[in-house]
Formats: sequence, structure tokens, C-alpha cells
Amino acid sequence: MEPMKIAVAKGRIAETARELLSEGGIAFPDTLYDERKLLINSIDGNYQLLFVKASDVPTYIEKGAADIGIVGKDTIMEDGKDVYELQDLGFGSCQLVVAGFPGSFPEDTKSLTVATKYPSIAKTYFDKEGIRTEISRLNGSIELAPIAGLSEVIVDIVETGSTLRDNGLVILREIAKVSARVIVNKASYATKNIEVKQCIELLKKGVDDRRADNHNA
Ligand code: PRP
Repeated sequence: MEPMKIAVAKGRIAETARELLSEGGIAFPDTLYDERKLLINSIDGNYQLLFVKASDVPTYIEKGAADIGIVGKDTIMEDGKDVYELQDLGFGSCQLVVAGFPGSFPEDTKSLTVATKYPSIAKTYFDKEGIRTEISRLNGSIELAPIAGLSEVIVDIVETGSTLRDNGLVILREIAKVSARVIVNKASYATKNIEVKQCIELLKKGVDDRRADNHNA
């Protein structure tokens, strides 16, 4: 039988996903997380983890190069790929926000310059607010944009808030709360339905067990 291919966003989501699978009895050969190894097989041969750049996970799933993906809701919202989004795993919680210098987004704003890794989310949000935008797409260090005069505000994710704080910026509006989600290839959901559901249950149980442990600690 073909292994269940799971594409995970490299970094903290990948580490957590691997731990959750291990806690559910799916063991992987190396105990250490190695950024350079891009694909690993479980010891029982039933699962394969593909370590993918977060923004590429939905493409792997839409095209069927992997059956299941684990990636942040922010990436799913930005991408709009044709996949099933089946489960909120609840970890990797962040806020998707408009941020900038205090006062840089007054109530009567009619137009704004925006820098972001999420141009589609930003356009949708500001269009709905009736605000004209000029959006610069960046790939990182987004908080630098208002400081360097590239944009008035940014649209970005905030986890601890320390990057904003360290750069003198504040949250001006919340767009959405985001966390790690399970997405599934549509054909895999039809042809491997039982295996897909088993895998999601295993991940979900791992998350629930951790929550219960934290609660009882
Ligand atoms: C993300 C995000 C913020 C930061 C927020 O960047 O774009 O810059 O994390 O985290 P915090 O609220 O805990 O400070 P990332 O670390 O992915 O780096 P990047 O600048 O290369 O996008």
C-alpha cells in the first residue's frame, strides 16, 4: 500500500506534527528534526512526511503530490487553492492583523499604502472596508516597511507581539485569528477516505491529549 503523504509547513508546524504522530504511535527513524532532510518515512512505512515551505503546502495538496497538508490558516486564506479544509488543530495560534505606528490608521482613512506577505488577504480586507490601497508584496521582515517609509501600514501575523514591540509598532485592527489546519486533496479524500480520517483523528487526539495534560498540570 502507498504511504499516506503528509506535507507539513517547515519549522514549528512540522516539528509539532511529527511529535503528534509519534505520540499516536507513528514512529519516525530520526529523533532529531533536521531542516535539510526534506522527506522521511515512518518506520512502519505507512506515512511519509514532506517538509515544504509553508506557502507551497496548498499547491502540493491541490496537485495531489501529497494527500494531507498541515499549514497555517493564513496561508490557506491567501492561496485560495481547491482543497478541503477539514480540521483546526488549534496549535500555532496567531493573529492576522493590520499593524503600524500608533494612529497610522484613523477611522476616516480613504486610502493606505500597505506592505505584506499576504496581498490577496490585504486587498480583500481593505476593499471590504472601502479603503483604496497600494499594496507592496514583501517576503519577510515586514515590520521594516513602515519604519523605512515603504508603507503606512502592514498586514502580517503576530504571535508573541515582540517583533512589533521591538520596532515601535502596534496592532491597529485584527483581520482574523489563525492556527494550524489540516487540508486534504479532493481525490485522496474520495479514494483513501478511511486512511485520511484515521490520520486526522490521530492528529486531533494528540492535540486533545496535550491540552488535557496542560490542563491537569
Ligand atoms: C513572522 C511574522 C512576524 C513575526 C511575528 O515572521 O511575519 O514578523 O513572525 O512573530 P512575533 O509576534 O512572535 O514577534 P517570521 O519569523 O516568519 O520571519 P520573516 O520576517 O522572515 O517573515
